[in-house]
Amino acid sequence: MSGSTKPTTTIEPRPQPGPAGAVDLDAKSLPRHVAIIMDGNGRWARAQGKPRVYGHEHGARNVNPIVTECAKLGIEVLTLYAFSTENWLRSKAEVEFLMGLLLQFLEAELPTMLANNVRFKQIGRREGLSPTVLEMIDRTTAATAGNTGLTLALAVNYGSRAEITDAVRAIARKVKAGELDPSAIDQGVISDHLFTAGLPDPDLLIRTAGEMRLSNYLLWQSSYAELYVADVCWPDFDVVQLHEALRAYARRTRKFGEVVEPRA
Ligand code: IPE
Ligand code: IPE
Ligand code: MG
Repeated sequence: MSGSTKPTTTIEPRPQPGPAGAVDLDAKSLPRHVAIIMDGNGRWARAQGKPRVYGHEHGARNVNPIVTECAKLGIEVLTLYAFSTENWLRSKAEVEFLMGLLLQFLEAELPTMLANNVRFKQIGRREGLSPTVLEMIDRTTAATAGNTGLTLALAVNYGSRAEITDAVRAIARKVKAGELDPSAIDQGVISDHLFTAGLPDPDLLIRTAGEMRLSNYLLWQSSYAELYVADVCWPDFDVVQLHEALRAYARRTRKFGEVVEPRA
């Protein structure tokens, strides 16, 4: 990998327009769990004639204000899709850059997480990640384990199909060992074997950069999530855009298969 592809800039929060928190958002209609597919870094960079990694650097910088705002609003869980099991298919240089950026991000963000009472965890397979990345993930997880505010679940080496495959294997092992009766396998048991065990399902799933697909993100958990697609690329998705998504969510009528009259 050439030196030029290494992350070079310090990740600092980007100033956001307007005072955070000065919004007409009703706490009762906020989602408990917001999931975001942070997409469009490459396109954002290309639009400026810059290499893809420039977009990733700006994308990483954009995480801080969104996490901080979710923590301030009292949202319980924020799951951010940072690197998928399929993203290993990208060039070695891009993958290495993203892993370097992840290390830098976790190191830079720890003080903000501690200041905002944010509990960090990774969702995704550990196998495949380097010892350095795993060590940083474990260190950040341990350092924030006692926090009681927002849970920030960073999806790294995450893919729903891998997650469900691993869950099926773990359940099958328990059945084989005589610890679990097949008739006792219900939706709760399956949920408890996913990387997201213990977290509520996403209420609002946001994707940036306009794509109308899930790209292997939280497929089981998002069965009844409200979907929101923002046209802007992730580096441009700011607190104002987040509030727009939250307002759109507040206007939705969730039905979960039942007959529910639309709001007046
Ligand atoms: C999202 O931006 C970041 C990751 C998937 C790591 P992309 O890199 O997918 O950007 P586009 O979609 O190519 O514009
Ligand atoms: C999804 O974006 C993964 C992340 C945002 C980390 P991709 O850019 O990988 O998804 P596709 O390839 O457009 O479906
Ligand atoms: Mg993409």
